[in-house]
Amino acid sequence: MKNTVYVSFVILFCLLFIGCSHKEPQYTIMVSQCSDDAWRQQMNEEMQRELLFHPNVQLHIWQADANSQRQCLQLDSIIALHPDLLIVSPNEADEVEPAITRAYQKGIPVIVADRKVNGKNYTAFIGGDNYEIGHLLAQYIQTHWDERSCSIFEITGLLGSTPALLRHKGLVDGLQSLSNFTITAQANGQWFQEPAYAVTLNLLQQNPKPDFIVAHNDLMAIGASQAVEAVYPGEDIPIIGVDALSGRGMGLDAICDGIEDASAIYAPHGDLIIQTAIAILNKEPYERDIVLPSFIMDKEGALAMRQYADEMNRRVETIRLLQNKVSDLTKTLSMQRMLVYALVVLIVMVLIIVAILHNIYIYRKRVREERERTQRTIMEQQQRLEDMSTELARVQATASSADKFMQQLMREIEIRMADTDLNVNTLSAAMNISRAQLFRKVKTLTGCSPVDLIRSLRLKRGQQLLLNTDDSIQQIAYAVGFTSASYFTKCYKDMFGTSPGEVTRPK
Ligand code: FRU
Repeated sequence: MKNTVYVSFVILFCLLFIGCSHKEPQYTIMVSQCSDDAWRQQMNEEMQRELLFHPNVQLHIWQADANSQRQCLQLDSIIALHPDLLIVSPNEADEVEPAITRAYQKGIPVIVADRKVNGKNYTAFIGGDNYEIGHLLAQYIQTHWDERSCSIFEITGLLGSTPALLRHKGLVDGLQSLSNFTITAQANGQWFQEPAYAVTLNLLQQNPKPDFIVAHNDLMAIGASQAVEAVYPGEDIPIIGVDALSGRGMGLDAICDGIEDASAIYAPHGDLIIQTAIAILNKEPYERDIVLPSFIMDKEGALAMRQYADEMNRRVETIRLLQNKVSDLTKTLSMQRMLVYALVVLIVMVLIIVAILHNIYIYRKRVREERERTQRTIMEQQQRLEDMSTELARVQATASSADKFMQQLMREIEIRMADTDLNVNTLSAAMNISRAQLFRKVKTLTGCSPVDLIRSLRLKRGQQLLLNTDDSIQQIAYAVGFTSASYFTKCYKDMFGTSPGEVTRPK
C-alpha cells in the first residue's frame, strides 16, 4: 500500500510537471502608434487578426494622437512595464527616436514600423520605400501630363516624419530630369484631411491654379480635392496620393469615385509585423530591414482592385468567422483539457487519500491486534502465576504432609529399632495405612522400599552406636534389630564400604 502512495505521488508530480511544462510562454507586445487614423486602425486589425494564430501573445495598443511629446511619455511608461517586445511607429523621427533608443537599450526588442528612425537602435524595421514612392508619383505625373510644363502643389505629411521627408525627396529627385515640372507651392497637411484641406485652400487662393496636386497620403488628397471644389467648383485638377487602402471611403474608393486620380500603394502589413515579432520572441531568424514594394494604382487598377478587395474582404470576413469558431473551439478544447487534467489530478489525489486512509486503518488494526495479543499474554501469564501459586500451595501442603509422614514413620521405626520383627506389616499398622500405600509413599519420598529404609536406618543407628559406645558389634547388632552380628557386618559393609570392626571408636 505504501508503494501505491509513492506511485501516486510520483504520478501527481509528473502531472503537475507536465501541466506546468506544457504551457507555452506568454508574451506581451506593446504597440506605440503615432495616431489613430484609418491606416493605423487597419494595421492594428491586421496585427490582431494575425495574433489569432498566437493565443499566447497579448497585444496592448497605445496611440499618441499625432503628438510626438505624448508618444515619448507613453514610450517611457511602456519601457517601465518592460514588455517582451515593442512595435513603434514614431510620429516624428527626431523627436521620438531617443525614447525608442531608451527602450532598445533597456533590452526590449523594438520593431519600427512604417515610419523610420535615423539611427540603428532597433531590432527590425518594416515599411515601404518612401523615397521610391516619391519617384513613382513623379513618374505618374510625367506619364499623365502631356504639356511641356507642369506646376505642382505638394501637400506633405508631417515634416518631421521620415515618410514625408523621403516622399518629398523622391518626388523632387523624380521631377529633376523634367525641367519644366516644378513644385510651385508646398504646405504641411500633417497627414490629416482637415489640415490638408485648410492648407490647400490657402495655397489655391494664394497661387495660380496648379496642373497637379500631390498629397503624401490619400486622406490629405481627399482634403485637397475638397479645397479644389471650394475654389474651382466643377473644375478638375488631377490629384494623386499615397496608401490606396481598400476600406470604405479610403484611397481605392476615392480613385474609383474620381476624387483622386491615382495613389501609390502603401499597405500597413500588420500581419508581417506580427510574424516578425513572433520570430524575434521565439529567437528564430528574421529579416532586420523589410522594405515593402509599392506601385501606382490608377482608376482602372483601382476598379479591379476594389472588386478584388471586396471579394477579399468577403473572404477575410469568412476567415474571421472561422477564426472566431476556431478560437471558440480552442477555448473549449483547452477548457476540456484543463478539466481532464484537473480530473486526473483529483483522481490521483483521491487515490492518495484512500491509500493514506487504508494505511491508517491497517496501522490501527495492527495496533489493536498487538494490544489484544499483549492483553492475552498478560492474562495467560496471570493465569500461569495463579496456577503456579496453587501448585506451590499444593506442593507445600504435600511437602508438609510428607514431612509429617516421614517424621512419624521415622519415629515408628526408631521406637521399634530393636524389634527384629519390625517389618512392613508392623509399620503399616503403626502408620494406619495399607502395605501398598506405605510402599508407594516411602518409595515416592525416599526412592527406596520400606524394607530398605528400615535396614538403612538400623545400619545408620548401628554406625552411631559403633562410634559413640563401647558396645560390642554383637550387642549393637541386636540393639538395632539384627538377629546376627555376621549379617549386621555384611549389611554394614554393603552400605558403608567398611566392616564395623574397622570403625575407630572414641577413646
Ligand atoms: C497614417 C499615415 C499614412 C501614411 C503613413 C506614413 O498614419 O499617415 O497615411 O502613408 O502614415 O507614415
